[in-house]
Amino acid sequence: MHKLSTPITKMLNIDVPIIGAPMFLVSNEDMVVAISEAGGIGTFPSLNYRPTEDFLRALKSIKQRTSKPIGVNIIVNKSNLRQAEDLKHSLNCGVELYITSLGNPKDVIREAHKNGAKVFCDVINIEQAKKVQDLGADAVVAVCSGAGGHAGPTTPMVLIPWLKEQLSIPVIAAGGIANGATMASAFCLGASAVHVGTRFIASSECQVTTNYKQAIINSSPEKIIFTDKVTGTPCNFIHTKDLDNHKSLPKFINRLKKNKTLKPFISPLLKIMGKKAFINSLTTQKNIWSAGQTVGLIHDIKPCKDIIEEMVTSYHEALHKSPR
Ligand SMILES: Cc1cc2nc3c(=O)[nH]c(=O)nc-3n(C[C@H](O)[C@H](O)[C@H](O)COP(=O)(O)O)c2cc1C
Repeated sequence: MHKLSTPITKMLNIDVPIIGAPMFLVSNEDMVVAISEAGGIGTFPSLNYRPTEDFLRALKSIKQRTSKPIGVNIIVNKSNLRQAEDLKHSLNCGVELYITSLGNPKDVIREAHKNGAKVFCDVINIEQAKKVQDLGADAVVAVCSGAGGHAGPTTPMVLIPWLKEQLSIPVIAAGGIANGATMASAFCLGASAVHVGTRFIASSECQVTTNYKQAIINSSPEKIIFTDKVTGTPCNFIHTKDLDNHKSLPKFINRLKKNKTLKPFISPLLKIMGKKAFINSLTTQKNIWSAGQTVGLIHDIKPCKDIIEEMVTSYHEALHKSPR
């Protein structure tokens, strides 16, 4: 496979600018190893392994199976009581990349940089992007509308060039990328790498249920519902009966969040409740599945290596296509 050089591949010392995006309760050891071995970079949320001893065991195992760079996603809001411990384990194991989401990444940036590691921060708007740039982030992950998981409100067609214009650090595109053509468009818009989640759910290494994988293949962008009813924060899900029947978090809690005095206490509580509800829905055999609008572009289940190779090959083909 041809290498594809960008500021991000140089920064991370990888062959192709494809990040296997961290996915709560989905990313696993096999996916991280396969994506990194294929020339991209595999990442996973530290909270996918509970308790923290299991996370450390997974990290050590991944590091034994690949010498290529890997990444860990750390949720940096107050609801994550394992932040400091997970960061310490990751630093000790020599993790090369940290992806932060949902909070203030200051501590992660400081400690990671002491270790020579890089930090990319999830952002959904210019305010967040400038804040993390000022804190020393190495790149921003522009989480656009249509992304799997907690997505932003802005189309990639605008968010990527808008952030690129306003920032001095690289922009990584998240949301809407599942093949070479979509990757090529992200690069045309100014992205230096792509952050791919949903496509990798339909991979052989992913250990979610067959029904979840099949739902990704059978679904269409029209069936992706953007709702805060499962986690308390707007998130994309595949439309199913179980999603319709799912009870939202109590409305009065959301109302309390608007109160300035109570907000610092209510927000972490909401996040803990949201996470619990999400775990429950995914572990009780309910058909509640997060995925992005790229479901419409995904037609098969195959190894992560093949997904990456196909993306790179079709990226080159896409570049040579004239408008039709
Ligand atoms: C099932 C699922 C779980 C996710 N969990 C996380 C997470 O724990 N942390 C995070 O930063 N992003 C999470 N994301 C977002 C992804 O990292 C990535 O930004 C997104 O999947 C990109 O959009 P795409 O799905 O269209 O490729 C999740 C996405 C999915 C589909």
